[in-house]
Amino acid sequence: MDGNGRWAQGQGLPTIAGHRAGANAAQRITERAAQRGIEFLTFYTFSSENWKRQQSWIDDFMGLLRWYLNQEAKTLMKKGVRLRVIGDRSLLPHDIQELIQELELKTQNNTTITVILALSYGGRDELKRAMQAIACKVANAELSAEDITCSLMEQHLDTSGIPDPDLLIRTSGEQRLSNYLLWQMAYTELVFIPTLWPDFSTQEFDQALEIFSQRQRRYGLYVDVS
Ligand code: IPE
Ligand code: MG
Repeated sequence: MDGNGRWAQGQGLPTIAGHRAGANAAQRITERAAQRGIEFLTFYTFSSENWKRQQSWIDDFMGLLRWYLNQEAKTLMKKGVRLRVIGDRSLLPHDIQELIQELELKTQNNTTITVILALSYGGRDELKRAMQAIACKVANAELSAEDITCSLMEQHLDTSGIPDPDLLIRTSGEQRLSNYLLWQMAYTELVFIPTLWPDFSTQEFDQALEIFSQRQRRYGLYVDVS
């Protein structure tokens, strides 16, 4: 969800207004994704590297996140959204950790769409934590080195039980992965869109799905010339 800061700057508004507009865009796209039958939608909301930003920015952002999580419960239930959070949540303010836990529990049986918020999330950090958990089990003789398979790795990632993403959409013209879902994106199709996230429309979302539908996915197999 890139470009909130630049959007606010362009409008002559404080940065937090950009994140607020970004939250509206996330609601809009969630609704559209559900209409289009998408089952899993992940938003890169706050990265492990974002902790290095100014404390005042972090405080404003956490304030907005707190407000959003508080007021979102009703909407999530009404729309049948199951919420999950990936990332190192132990670094988040305690009350936010509790809010997340409550919402995950409350929405766990919702079936329209699963929305995953990547919060305090970094792909390398996630892999490091998975490896630590596996190393502990090996050290305790619960597992041996030969038991470490791709599927065991996946079970120890934050995304355990969530399928790998088919499509990544990055807004604002940046063309990088920025430490996002590094393991899970091995075969993800990438679409880059110049629009700043707060302006990202349902039409542009549909266009990205259209681009995706024209991609030929081979997963390392031969080109299909038939
Ligand atoms: C994206 O907005 C959302 C977060 C990183 C939290 P940015 O803050 O990256 O906005 P730009 O890229 O500076 O415009
Ligand atoms: Mg950015």
